[in-house]
Amino acid sequence: MKISIIGAGGLVGSCAAYALQCGGVVRELALLDVNAELAAGQALDLLHGGPSTADQVITSGGYEHIPTSDVICITAGLRRKPDESRLDLINRNVDLFLSILADVQSAGPKDDAIVLVVSNPVDILTYLAAQRLKLCPSRVIGLGTQLDTIRFRSLIAQHLKAPPTQVSAVILGEHGDSMVPIWSSATCAGLPLDKFPGWGPNVATQLFERTKGSGAEVIKRKGGAGFAVGIAIRDVIESIALDSRKILPVSSVQDGCCGIRDVALSVPTVVGRRGVVDRLEIDLWPKEMQALRRSGQVLRETVETVLKRVGR
Ligand code: 2OP
Repeated sequence: MKISIIGAGGLVGSCAAYALQCGGVVRELALLDVNAELAAGQALDLLHGGPSTADQVITSGGYEHIPTSDVICITAGLRRKPDESRLDLINRNVDLFLSILADVQSAGPKDDAIVLVVSNPVDILTYLAAQRLKLCPSRVIGLGTQLDTIRFRSLIAQHLKAPPTQVSAVILGEHGDSMVPIWSSATCAGLPLDKFPGWGPNVATQLFERTKGSGAEVIKRKGGAGFAVGIAIRDVIESIALDSRKILPVSSVQDGCCGIRDVALSVPTVVGRRGVVDRLEIDLWPKEMQALRRSGQVLRETVETVLKRVGR
């Protein structure tokens, strides 16, 4: 499977490429960036590690890679400032993103290609990509709250001093301020979290607030997230490549799941070779369902604002 990463010269795109190289599942990585020299440098640096990682083809270039790509991962975009919400990014990134979509479409993606949107505000841009590209909407996926979910699990594990791979917890909704922690199904080693000494509502609140603020915290400390975003991107792309049909909290345009439609946000989504295979209506606490629907409303209002500016 061939993956083209648009914006691969930058931190997020290059970390995604490195995660996919270390994962060894995909066959070919093409690194695309407006700064062609930087993309070529990232590709060369990855190539050098090949003998000790996987037998892959690693190249760089332009949109000539689009017609032969199975997954087109769009990470290009301006980064958020520490005190800036993702939605504040919107006007700066929407115009850039729409030009990238136009270039992708005119380069002629395969009918069975999948577009993975990472650029922020990811849910808004995922909606625009599904609307503007000629692909079946189920083939347009946003990274959504997969990154928030692994952050959430990592912080719970750190607090419990437990193995992070044994913490099961999920964030749904917007990859942004209205994201929703799903405590009703959170466990560690199959045990409810409130069975663990010292667990309580205050701990839960602190861990979720830190999760929600993790993007800004990483930006403040090191200028922007890269490693965990790359891992989250790898999680999604490898479920596509292997047709694993993993249930992942990724963003796609909803058509009624949890009573939400005509907006892109993250619900439990079966991800396979053809993109969104299914979405699961899981049993949530009433306050979780209410918050998820609220997240959809917040995003829908923003979509309307954007469409008024850029046209439907
Ligand atoms: C983050 O949360 C980049 O939106 C991404 O760090």
